[in-house]
Amino acid sequence: MKMKQIKELISQMTLEEKASICSGADFWHTEKLERLGIPATMVSDGPHGLRKQDEGADHLGINDSIKAVCFPAGCGSAASFNRELLTEMGETLGNECQAEGVSVILGPAVNIKRSPLCGRNFEYYSEDPYLASQIAGALIKGIQSKNVGTSIKHFLANNQENRRMSVSAEVDERTLREIYLAAFETAIKEQKPWTVMCSYNRINGVYAAENKKYLTDILRGEWGFDGYVVSDWGAVNDRVADLKAGLDLEMPSSNGMNDALIVEAVKNGTLDEKVVDEAVEHILNIVYRFEENRDKTAVFDRDKDHEKARKVAEESIVLLKNDDILPLCESQKVAFIGKYAQKPRYQGGGSSHINSHKVTSAMEAAADNANITYAQGYVDNKNEVDEVLLAEALEAAKNADVAVVFAGLPDVFESEAYDRKHMHMPDCQNLLIEKVAEVQPNVVVVLHNGSPVEMPWLPKVKGVLEAYLGGQAVGGAEYDILFGKVNPSAKLPETFPIQLEDNPSYLNFPGEGDTVEYREGIFVGYRYYDKKKMNVLFPFGHGLSYTEFAYSNLKLSAESIKDTDELTVFVDVTNTGTREGKEVVQLYVSDKESFVIRPVKELKGFEKVFLMPGETKTVTFTLNKRSFAYYNTQIHDWHVESGSFTIMIGKSSRDIVVTADVEVHSTVELPVFYTTDTPLGDVIKNEKVADMIRGLFANNVLDSQNAATEASSEAITAEMMEAQMRDMPLRGVLSFAGDLGIDMNKLQELVDQMNRMNQ
Ligand code: BGC
Repeated sequence: MKMKQIKELISQMTLEEKASICSGADFWHTEKLERLGIPATMVSDGPHGLRKQDEGADHLGINDSIKAVCFPAGCGSAASFNRELLTEMGETLGNECQAEGVSVILGPAVNIKRSPLCGRNFEYYSEDPYLASQIAGALIKGIQSKNVGTSIKHFLANNQENRRMSVSAEVDERTLREIYLAAFETAIKEQKPWTVMCSYNRINGVYAAENKKYLTDILRGEWGFDGYVVSDWGAVNDRVADLKAGLDLEMPSSNGMNDALIVEAVKNGTLDEKVVDEAVEHILNIVYRFEENRDKTAVFDRDKDHEKARKVAEESIVLLKNDDILPLCESQKVAFIGKYAQKPRYQGGGSSHINSHKVTSAMEAAADNANITYAQGYVDNKNEVDEVLLAEALEAAKNADVAVVFAGLPDVFESEAYDRKHMHMPDCQNLLIEKVAEVQPNVVVVLHNGSPVEMPWLPKVKGVLEAYLGGQAVGGAEYDILFGKVNPSAKLPETFPIQLEDNPSYLNFPGEGDTVEYREGIFVGYRYYDKKKMNVLFPFGHGLSYTEFAYSNLKLSAESIKDTDELTVFVDVTNTGTREGKEVVQLYVSDKESFVIRPVKELKGFEKVFLMPGETKTVTFTLNKRSFAYYNTQIHDWHVESGSFTIMIGKSSRDIVVTADVEVHSTVELPVFYTTDTPLGDVIKNEKVADMIRGLFANNVLDSQNAATEASSEAITAEMMEAQMRDMPLRGVLSFAGDLGIDMNKLQELVDQMNRMNQ
């Protein structure tokens, strides 16, 4: 429906009717208005499958929803580093929504993995905002291509579950822009999600739902968002304040309570009715976008979609370690050990919980392989060693050529609504792996977890596969990777630290009471570990393959560019091994010298390429101003510092294979304002005003200081003297420079003149 018609409809509504549209009819439906023929539409979770609930609605996954297909959770799908795959997954989900009459699927969830402990990390994509936004954008593109909306969530700075409904994330402006907003920004600007879900928490003291700066100024004003903003379920605190800030739709229904407050506020003049009109317009725009583009032919073919989930799982499993053990041969005697071989943990708890129509375990996938034996090894809902199960497992391991231990985190260890307390796997599982390694030299561990774990047993095993929470088809994908039918191609979308204490948020997670300070600033994930030159268990971007890739011919389209220009980067990648495979080519940008505190390098591009043995392909990247910029809080905008940057092409953030430098020239001069407190060095740096200062007194200062120095100590060199002077405020010169014939008033006049000259 055209905007004009929507406005026309709104003009026919009573205030009460408009207020009613601003909140849900129940848990999952928008409000209808029969008098004007306005239909209700349904929304459902999300994000990695359809959780359509009809009866017994709740939002934490307690009651069953319809049978559906569970794809790998965000932790896994992000590891694919594959935009096309995510778009295909989105198309499938969009089609399922059309078949089930769901107008908006509540996802993707792009919150940054600030700490490995966040209970919801399994749903989130990455510690890196570029990767998170690219993956989210690709999924949105696919879903919305089927005329079904998405709800990118949870906007903003919802990086922990602890006190998520009241905690205030205290984050500085630059960090918000470079890390937390950036995870949303590109996906929103480029893929235009139909809706955005605002989070429960506060940001610098103000509830997300009441935060006009983010919900309106940045989201609509800067990023051009034109859909509706929906509250996270129950995130509304002050309905009228929320509406004014830009929160259009309250979910779930407040049973008329908040609608009445809206009506009252308009009547008593504290709320402009135009604000209500705008919210209704945003909501109806999306309601009709769905209603008028229904695909009544869509069919939810669960078996077909199961195969698609398997395809995504194949690219979501990261080969972390391989000491010549994988792939296995079907002629080898292999013991599958651990409950997750038979009953995989493949999804997390809470609102994203899918009622899977079927689940394939690795044991089921191995049904035709007579050389596989199974032993349960542990009980996953108790952290206790079961001696009988342990003995059986050791027996199976001894009698095999290889033992594959399927381990990970039990449901109770990670879920929506609470955070983890530590980064350990259950002791009984760690012990099982250690014991198996004592009786069997060939051990592979397959992990099922939504977030990093410590691996005390790592040196004792030959192979590790990180299967993440790989969705309902995970067992088939695991089997195919273990036996080399599929070549692993996933990469870690996050760093695995050696221990929790190494993580940059460690000292400030989850904060004190209702406040959490993001004191590590922009140094999240690899940005921190790199800067501190710390050893990690597995770095961001790491993931092995059964083949080898070589990189050559890195070329840049220019040696020198302006920050308004684009730079094209070309690099050749060759499959030098004997198997076909996919490689994720990663591009990082590093500012070689900078006055601003910056990470060592940042991911600014990635491409996944398929290569046959011996094949070479040229991979191309386009970089722009944002690829080189940091967020400058003086001008409240992105800024590039002129100078030399290194373009790094790597197999991971710690395995950079080729580099090239480019000069980037800023077209923006930062405003400079001098005061009598400005250090001398800062003045001398600016050629426009430096001569004034030099001419007037800089030399006298240096001369008189030099004379004093010669007399007192030969140890103070001219270099030291210059360094000492650099930080001296202009006013200091009056005290130290003897009689220059100028006083404070004269100095102030000079400073004013400098400011005029600099304009
Ligand atoms: C979650 C959202 C979810 C909503 C509806 C909330 O508790 O935070 O991610 O979409 O419930 O189930």
